[in-house]
Order: sequence, then C-alpha cells, then structure tokens
Amino acid sequence: MKASTTDPLDTEHIRADFPILQREFDGTQLVYLDNAATSQTPEPVIDTIAEYYRTYNANVHRGLHQLSQEASIAYEEAHDRVAEFIGASGGREEIVFTKNTTESMNLVAYAWGLAELGPEDEVVTTQMEHHSSLVTWQQIGKKTGAEVKYIRIDEEGYLDMDHAKELITDDTAMVSVAHVSNTLGTINPVSELAELAHDHGAYIFVDGAQSVPHQPVDVEAIDADFFAFSGHKMCGPTGIGVLYGKRELLESMQPYLYGGSMVRKVTYEETTFEELPWKFEAGTPVIGQGIALAAACDYLDEIGLERIQRHEHELAEYAYDRLTEFEDITVYGPPGDDRVGLVSFNLDSVHAHDLSSILNDHAVAIRAGDHCTQPLHDTLDTAASARASFYLYNTRKEIDALIEGIDDARALFA
Ligand SMILES: Cc1ncc(COP(=O)(O)O)c(C=O)c1O
Repeated sequence: MKASTTDPLDTEHIRADFPILQREFDGTQLVYLDNAATSQTPEPVIDTIAEYYRTYNANVHRGLHQLSQEASIAYEEAHDRVAEFIGASGGREEIVFTKNTTESMNLVAYAWGLAELGPEDEVVTTQMEHHSSLVTWQQIGKKTGAEVKYIRIDEEGYLDMDHAKELITDDTAMVSVAHVSNTLGTINPVSELAELAHDHGAYIFVDGAQSVPHQPVDVEAIDADFFAFSGHKMCGPTGIGVLYGKRELLESMQPYLYGGSMVRKVTYEETTFEELPWKFEAGTPVIGQGIALAAACDYLDEIGLERIQRHEHELAEYAYDRLTEFEDITVYGPPGDDRVGLVSFNLDSVHAHDLSSILNDHAVAIRAGDHCTQPLHDTLDTAASARASFYLYNTRKEIDALIEGIDDARALFA
C-alpha cells in the first residue's frame, strides 16, 4: 500500500535501496551529505539502466529492427513520464533531453537568446544564481549587447522583491531565476516572478536543479516558459538533463545543435527539421540515461515528493538549530524553518576546505568551496563555505556525525 502524503519516511527501508550507502571507510559507514551536488542512485534505477544495456540497447528512431523499436518506444515514453512528473500537459513535445541543467540553460540562451536579444533588451536574473545561468546570460549579454541585471538578496538571503519590481520593466526580455538556491537554501517566489515577467511581456526561465528532486513541481502552475533540471540530482543517472519549454516557444526557436536525428529532409542546399522535441536532440541522444530518468521519476513518486520535502525540511531545521548553537559558526540563508534541505556555513577558525577534509576522515562527505556561486560568495563576503545537503535517505544521526566532525576540526585548529 502506498504511504499517505503525511506518513514520515522509513529511512531504514529507503537506505536499503541505495547500495552505495553501505560503503565504509576505515570501518566507519559513509555519511553522504553532498546531495545538492549529486544524489545517490537506488536499485530500481540501476536495474533499469542495466536492463537497457543487457536486453534492448540500440540506437533510437533509426532502426526497423526489434531492439531499435524497443529502445525507441522506451526512450520516447520516458519524455512523457518526465512531462507528467513536472505537470507539463503537452507531453513529450515540451520535454527536451539534454546532458544537464547547464546544457538546457545554454540551449535557451543560444537558440532563443542569440536570435531574440539586442542592445535594447535586458535580462533580469538574481545575485544567487548558479554559474550555469549567471555565466551563460553574462556571455550572451556580451554577444548581443543585452544588459544583465541582478535582483539583490537581503540580509537573510531572500530575494528583495521590491528590487525585482524595479528591475523588471518593459525593457526586460527574459527573467532567469533559480527556483531554489543551491547555496542559501532559499525558495524563490517563482510564480510571482513569472507574473511580473509576463506583465511586462518578458519570458521566465526557471532553474529547477534544486527544486525538482526535492518537492512537487508543476511547471504550468508556476507558469514557467522554460524550466530546467538534472537527472543526477534526483536519483537518476549522470549525463541527462531536461529542458521544459512551452510548446509554441520551442516551436518558434531554431535548433541549437545540428546533425543527424533532428532532420526530416536534407538536400545539399536545404534542411527541414524534425518535430518537437527531436529537433533539439541532434545526434544519438541520451537513451539509457533518459529511460533511467523515467525510472527515477517512478521511484520518487512512489515514495512521494511531499513526504520527501517534509523529511528534508525537518533535517534542515535540525541541522540549522544544531549549527547555530555555536557562536563560531556562521550559517548563510533563511531561518531553519524556511529553507530546503541544505545548509551552507563557515566555522570561524577553519577554512571550509580543511573542514571538509577533516570531515572526510570521519567518512562524512560534504561540499566545500563556492558551490558555483562565486559572485554570491563575494556578496556574502567570504571566498568559500561548507555545505551539507540532505536527501530522502539522510537521518538526524548523520547530522550528529557532522557536528562531531566539526567539533573535532575546531579542536584540531584551536
Ligand atoms: C541551482 C543549480 N543550477 C544549476 C546547476 C547545474 O547543474 P548541472 O551541473 O547538472 O548542469 C546546479 C548544480 O549544482 C544547481 O545547483
């Protein structure tokens, strides 16, 4: 029987699905708290990819033989499954498989941005963007003359919505915003931003890399024009990302990559392109990864995104409370009760890299560095931070192990 949306997660049961979590280092069991970078992969997803390679590995769309037909059906249906997972009622035609969120972002920036933007246009984004979005718009701005503007964050790490209202004007062509910050844990008001963008005739691109794995997402309720995320952060394999786009927008755009598979008729002079989404999937696509991503959607839905979200929220609150007990720890971002399952922080006396290395001796895996948000770290007035990020299989006991490791680091550097 499927659990109700309010039932707590049975982490012991869930952990048994993830073979990697059984790993030990020098007799200590792995505590994996780097899920915002990449999540671990459960048996059903590993089985799906293994079954694909064992039993029906073949190129898609091209072959008339049985294996190719089986692979093509599974690959195409995977687009429908992903569409359903994020509430895209247009099905496969609105779902382009890419390599990752970064490629999805670049696809829009090149295919839409280069064609549509000029010196009279503005792209409005935020101070908390991941480099995948910030660098891409910055570079497209340089190529097209469009100005890139950044919505400020306030002291607590929320977007300053008064500033957003000032910046989003009739000159704005695109608003590009992270649904959830990978450094601050802030959940951004993307529906409100979509409304603001649309009121001014602009489009909105939502970077859902840190939201889709952790909470129910409905791209149509948000009214996102484009929405991107990565498989490897949601129990899926590496090498698969998704770009959702409203059908009429995707239809109006020229392809980003050219070559085989995305064409219908080719002569020496002219080419006509395939229909959606294939016109954006040039060459041999991410077949095994796409099929396994659909299995990851099944896995997460079976457990329930509401339950996962609640579980992570409780862990984040616990981690926030424990970390803020110490005067020598600075925690970045909103209060514990209003953030997703990640906490970035610094310990006064220990550089984040040293802290991560000491934690590694305790078999605790966290992230240290700028988390691909260098400008945000400049705003926070620090070069680096440590980040612990949680997922459905993490436990309070693992957060206690993190705190013990931090105590050890503090003592070593005293
Ligand atoms: C908010 C956000 N956007 C984009 C990305 C880029 O994802 P990928 O490296 O899978 O392209 C990440 C990855 O950490 C992220 O956290």
